[in-house]
Amino acid sequence: MTTTSHNVLPEELEDLVALFDVRGTDEPTPDAEREEALAAPRFGTVFTDHMARVSWRQEDGWLDRRVEKYGPLQLDPATAVLHYAQEIFEGMKAYKHADGSVWTFRPEANADRFARSAHRLALPALTVDDFIGSIAALVRTDRAWVPGGEDSSLYLRPFMFASEPFLGVRPAAEVEYLCIASPVGPYFAGGVKPVSIWVSQDYHRAGPGGTGNAKCGGNYAASLLPQTEAQQNGCDQVCFLDASTNSYLEELGGMNIFVVMDDGTVHTPELTGSILEGITRKSILQLVADRGHEVVERRISLAEIEAGLAGGSVREMFACGTAAVVTPVGRLASSNFDHTVADGEPGELTMAIRSELTDIQYGRARDRHGWMRRLA
Ligand code: PLP
Ligand code: COI
Repeated sequence: MTTTSHNVLPEELEDLVALFDVRGTDEPTPDAEREEALAAPRFGTVFTDHMARVSWRQEDGWLDRRVEKYGPLQLDPATAVLHYAQEIFEGMKAYKHADGSVWTFRPEANADRFARSAHRLALPALTVDDFIGSIAALVRTDRAWVPGGEDSSLYLRPFMFASEPFLGVRPAAEVEYLCIASPVGPYFAGGVKPVSIWVSQDYHRAGPGGTGNAKCGGNYAASLLPQTEAQQNGCDQVCFLDASTNSYLEELGGMNIFVVMDDGTVHTPELTGSILEGITRKSILQLVADRGHEVVERRISLAEIEAGLAGGSVREMFACGTAAVVTPVGRLASSNFDHTVADGEPGELTMAIRSELTDIQYGRARDRHGWMRRLA
């Protein structure tokens, strides 16, 4: 399929936001309560006062663009998504800059991926304009909820699901798109400290021709049991191998993965169709290349990494994603091995890339690639 991506210009954004009818809540959270909620939010537990919403009907297309009070959805028990998981989502952040303005990072890339995910899940595509318009309309309405502290941001969760009450197995003729927002601090409770990773030998999250490169809820459901297994084995996150040969690294449940070799080259699993095309991954490939490192997207076997960890040729490993930003990996383990990554401490390049990326996102460094978009 093709997507018709284009950059949304600042002057165009006003018109896109104006399409959303703001039906503000008459019960906004009191200021003191909101400030308390913003002080140290645990990832994904606190939500703002509003949500953006657009409905789709097969015969009419997208309609009723609005921002309305955040609250429970009433669903018929036969609603298709509850039975067949026809659902997709995105993950993005809004960052407050020192002058109080609010920005987001490469939203067109999220809009494009959302459209690709929609295609794979037989859902209707939302235009880039509606995707970005909905986010800006919500962030402007709930601007007071964008936290200001270091490593804090307003996490944005656009999602779309089959809302038609119908038990037949076919693409739904009624669909809802919503975007909710949640003030967040660091994804991992310990802040930026190295995480340990369990390589699953028994489970895969995706296979050839499956939905691995779509951001659909089902992929995450499939990752929960192996993630639990990882935790039972004393690790923070699970890493999946490819389903065809059970020998190549793919990604974690919610993050892409990078390896830094002792010769300075930086490697990440190539996009095979079963890996999510991370926007953080893509941006890091650029930042690492800008620093003069050779970057290699290729198949990376577990055997090679195990040997490299044991022999010292693997110097650093890190995971990356919107929620996790750049997180050092300190240990890689499985049922038949347990390796510390170098000395187990955060790697130098890992932390330099993390700083460089967050400096751009928080407006502390020049946005030399034109990645940031002002929302409010
Ligand atoms: N891989 C998976 C499975 C994810 O859920 C995510 C998070 O969105 C990523 C990778 C990283 O993607 P991004 O950098 O676009 O957030
Ligand atoms: C993100 O990084 O935004 C994700 O969606 C990963 C996870 C929270 C599911």
